Amino acid sequence: MKPILAIYPGSFDPVTNGHLDLIERGSKIFDRLVVAVLRNVEKTPLFSTEERCEMLREVTRVFSNVEIDLFDGLLVDYVNRRNAQVILRGIRAISDYEYELQMAMMNRRLAPQIETVFMLPAEAYSYLSARLVREIAQLGGPVHGLVPAVVEERLRIKASP
Ligand code: PNS
Repeated sequence: MKPILAIYPGSFDPVTNGHLDLIERGSKIFDRLVVAVLRNVEKTPLFSTEERCEMLREVTRVFSNVEIDLFDGLLVDYVNRRNAQVILRGIRAISDYEYELQMAMMNRRLAPQIETVFMLPAEAYSYLSARLVREIAQLGGPVHGLVPAVVEERLRIKASP
């Protein structure tokens, strides 16, 4: 059987423990996993794409089959360019499902040979999102336990005047 290359796309602004949990699960299921950071996802991201990639590289160093990359344009074009077979996405709760289903179906329409695979992060991370982490950190709240230590430190630096 051909080795399975999966792409885990997202904005990762910043990477959270929920993302990391999914990366670990994905790295066990697939032969290779590429975490693909969307360039310029928002007009005013908290971290630049380079910073997001740096943090991701640092926290995924322990997984030998995980790679960090950047992409722009259509996700399916990137997946095809990489010769990958799978798009990996996480679903935390039913509320994620509608948006994820819409994206997966649209991606299937654009590229029927690519399979989207959904995985569930650990229950403890079911309410965790990068948006909330950014908001809490920027308002001076604690994010300990929600993000890896290196991200916590970078958030602290960003939030300090
Ligand atoms: O972490 P996010 O912000 O939920 O990730 C969303 C992402 C990057 C997976 C999605 O916005 C995406 O795939 N963007 C690339 C452009 C694209 O292909 N759009 C059509 C999707 S059907």
